[in-house]
Amino acid sequence: MNFSTIKTSLDNNILTIIINRPEKLNALNKIVLDELEQIIQTVYDDKKIKAAIITGEGNKAFIAGADISEFTEVSDKQGADLAKRGQQIFFKIENCIKPVVAAVNGFALGGGCELAMACHFRLASDNAKFGQPEVNLGLIPGYGGTQRLTLLVGRGKAMELMMSGAMIDAAEAKDLGLVNYVTKSENLIEKTRQILNVILAKSPVAVSKVIAAVNAFYQTDKNGYDEEIKLFGEVFTSDDKKEGTAAFIEKRKPSFKDE
Ligand code: COA
Repeated sequence: MNFSTIKTSLDNNILTIIINRPEKLNALNKIVLDELEQIIQTVYDDKKIKAAIITGEGNKAFIAGADISEFTEVSDKQGADLAKRGQQIFFKIENCIKPVVAAVNGFALGGGCELAMACHFRLASDNAKFGQPEVNLGLIPGYGGTQRLTLLVGRGKAMELMMSGAMIDAAEAKDLGLVNYVTKSENLIEKTRQILNVILAKSPVAVSKVIAAVNAFYQTDKNGYDEEIKLFGEVFTSDDKKEGTAAFIEKRKPSFKDE
């Protein structure tokens, strides 16, 4: 697939997706969003891909937000459509049946922070900076940030961060539970791959049901406990469950199926 704003590389079943507009700090314009949607669909569909990492080109920015220059090109009435489009793509990432992890390698601001939060979990390099600075532009987050930041760091801190537009560094992001690990820049992708390799050794069916069950926690059309019962029932019939339990009893390593 040929993209103009995204680079990809597939290595040992892990697809690295690099947002590639370093001259604009990888800001999310319409083309990036379209290409991101296409590549995430590929993650869903391509059997060779078992997990994905999203990161930014260069060592300055993950993504410095939605492309502000495009805000002046759309009419005042199109704001809601803009937010809806971003939310739709980020839901697709959040609900991906395979693990999608953000490797935050610099500024993750506005839509960049929102994209990182839509991923299943996040790692950050020690120079990463997070924030929702939309209030500086007379705006609010529109790609799910008001909801996901609240979920990740709690109501009080989310309120403060979004009302002040303040940036926080990687260490604070880790203290708040926004990121799971902080590494040196040069180790970020390798550490992310290490974690994904552990996950990829598990049952892919079980991993995808974990994603669905955890996401059900805050999908208001679902009762998370009921969803867990349903998904548990589904994995209980899988070949991986037979293999996993048999391997434990026989004191050997399980050999899980590919899908
Ligand atoms: N949209 C469009 N362009 C952006 C951008 C964004 N969100 N963030 C950065 N850029 C562009 C700058 O306009 C600049 O382009 P230019 O060289 O053609 O003028 C280039 O990226 C480099 O950014 P610059 O501001 O010169 O870098 P800096 O190191 O001085 O500052 C930031 C870095 C991240 C603090 C600053 O770029 C910034 O505040 N960006 C906007 C963040 C934001 O508000 N995001 C939320 C949007 S809703």
